[in-house]
Amino acid sequence: MGKSTIMFIASAICLFSLLGITQATEEADNYQFVLTGMVYCDPCRAAFKTNLSEPIADVRVGMQCRHPETEKVTITVTASTNSTGYYHMLIEGDHENEICETFLIHSPREDCLEVPKEGFARESSRVTLTNHNGIAGKYRESNPLFFLTKEVAPECAKEFREMEYLPELKDINQA
Ligand SMILES: *[C@@H]1O[C@H](CO)[C@@H](O)[C@H](O)[C@H]1NC(C)=O
Ligand SMILES: *[C@@H]1O[C@H](CO)[C@@H](O)[C@H](O)[C@H]1NC(C)=O
Repeated sequence: MGKSTIMFIASAICLFSLLGITQATEEADNYQFVLTGMVYCDPCRAAFKTNLSEPIADVRVGMQCRHPETEKVTITVTASTNSTGYYHMLIEGDHENEICETFLIHSPREDCLEVPKEGFARESSRVTLTNHNGIAGKYRESNPLFFLTKEVAPECAKEFREMEYLPELKDINQA
């Protein structure tokens, strides 16, 4: 191969990767919001994060907005978590005066697939996807979502005892 052929190939590769970058940016630009969140396995059935919570990869997560009175669904988006338990959604439109919630669809872990029930714990998590109520910016985060194991892991008793001795919790109890 001559020098000029190599140069040509090299610049072609450069150009294509530049185009790739531009396309990725433009894709996010077409959306009003980028929503991220995490999914954990909760072996303590507490439905809040403890040191024993483990991020789960390949979870299907959904996000849906609906009108509070008519219950009419305005948007549904789904995504999967990556190896660190994070998902990432591109959301079209501003969803003022709508109720938007993230929810769990599917866990790939047979030992951790129970969705917490409303009343007992959070089944879904509210997210704000509008720029018209004080929060501005494109990047939004949902509270973490949890799948529960069938049984409470034996280490949890110790974990909860240690949590009781956290200084912040003591302060709250004394107040
Ligand atoms: C998973 O997604 C999060 C949030 O988008 C990101 O910070 C992290 O680097 C991703 N991890 C991998 C392994 O891709
Ligand atoms: C959680 O783990 C961290 C780091 O190992 C430790 O400092 C902290 O005390 C633990 N918290 C509880 C509640 O056990």
